[in-house]
Amino acid sequence: MTNEIKSADGKLGILLPGLGAVATTLIAGVYAVNKGISKPIGSTTQMGTIRLGKRTEKRNPLIKDFIPLADIKNIVFGGWDLFEDNVYESALNAGVLEKTTLDMLKPELEAIKPMKAVFDKNYVKKLHGTYVKEGKTKMDLADQLRQDIRDFKAKNNCDRLVMVWCGSTEIYIEETTVHKTIESLEEGLRNNDVNIPSSMIYAYAAIKEGIPYANGAPNLSADIPALVSLAKQNNVPICGKDFKTGQTLMKTIIAPGMKTRSLGIAGWFSTNILGNRDGEVLDDPDNFKTKEVSKLGVLEEILDPENNPDLYKDLYHKVRINYYPPHGDNKEGWDNIDIFGWMGYRMQIKVDFLCRDSILAAPLVLDLAIFLDLASRAGMSGVQEWLSFYFKSPQEKIAGLKPMHDIFKQEMKLKNTLRHLKGEELITHLGLDYED
Ligand SMILES: NC(=O)c1ccc[n+]([C@@H]2O[C@H](COP(=O)([O-])OP(=O)(O)OC[C@H]3O[C@@H](n4cnc5c(N)ncnc54)[C@H](O)[C@@H]3O)[C@@H](O)[C@H]2O)c1
Repeated sequence: MTNEIKSADGKLGILLPGLGAVATTLIAGVYAVNKGISKPIGSTTQMGTIRLGKRTEKRNPLIKDFIPLADIKNIVFGGWDLFEDNVYESALNAGVLEKTTLDMLKPELEAIKPMKAVFDKNYVKKLHGTYVKEGKTKMDLADQLRQDIRDFKAKNNCDRLVMVWCGSTEIYIEETTVHKTIESLEEGLRNNDVNIPSSMIYAYAAIKEGIPYANGAPNLSADIPALVSLAKQNNVPICGKDFKTGQTLMKTIIAPGMKTRSLGIAGWFSTNILGNRDGEVLDDPDNFKTKEVSKLGVLEEILDPENNPDLYKDLYHKVRINYYPPHGDNKEGWDNIDIFGWMGYRMQIKVDFLCRDSILAAPLVLDLAIFLDLASRAGMSGVQEWLSFYFKSPQEKIAGLKPMHDIFKQEMKLKNTLRHLKGEELITHLGLDYED
């Protein structure tokens, strides 16, 4: 059975808590594409194709021509931040895009001014912004966000909205009783429970308003039973966590290759140096812990040491992040991989990825917003595992069932979901005749 997909006509509002490097790079990029200055490279919704039917049929349309997606000409942006800078100023400050490019988009970017943030320093110690909402309880703050959302929708004449968390990584918090049910979470919001950080208040506000929510950082945010239940109850699709860019992207490309060839891995040491605001926030051990947990999980799932003990049982996996201001947003992700082959002979792989963090992340935000909007129009709700493709630490759909990290399996799942939505045959590459 295929889902009926509602029309993608009309305006889509993308709401971004956190108008920093990633968010401003996204916004400037979308305007640049719409003006014909740039191409949306790195975006699957804009540039990706999808094979349909047998190989001999030669049907490979662009995804955006295959399934109704919001047109990027019909997107409007809004957001919140604890710094009052407009998007032009914030983009200049982030230092990702050249000033000459930003100047070509200045009027549009200057027009986007942040709404006051829901922010609490206890969860991000290194930031000192003052453009912050006041409220007696966390529920008051959630209500203020809900009002912001409604005002934005009316003011900008939006037909639909989505929210993607692009705010800083908060300190590590484990799931506790307040996160268990909708009732306990709402009680916690009224009682200012310490286990409810700002990102969770945004997620709650979005889901209450019926707005799809994606989390680009590794914070718990919507990854708690209470918000998963609320999302299902309100027919809202959600997904997270932590955009898969840079080093983890490389890891989930290389590790499946090693595993496929039954090559062993003795150790994988990963270190990053970066100098943007994200790097500064992650310089605090409590915030780094959240990121570390997110980054460490991927190899375990891909290599499955329990079922492949001779190859991966003793793997030593270490991840470091170092704040190094001279590099700015141009992160260096360096990996040393100690592998072993036939008769146990040792070899090494070294990867030095000189990447640009926000350049890799911006198209993911666009895709997530556009695919979540599709999911919503197709009546899909709760955790969207088919969007695991975009995350370092994909949210589980079924508690205890680990999501897949292998990027090629994730891609197959994403594209098969699109085929399914349109009633096309799924492609597994497992057919027995030459046409498959
Ligand atoms: N760039 C990447 O490749 C990448 C990959 C994975 C995850 N991420 C995550 O994406 C997020 C954004 O990254 P970035 O490089 O843009 O960071 P950034 O520091 O440049 O921007 C984050 C912005 O969020 C704001 N902020 C923090 N708490 C807020 C709150 N409660 N409400 C509203 N605004 C808030 C900050 O003031 C800042 O402007 C970070 O959590 C980062 O860890 C980035």
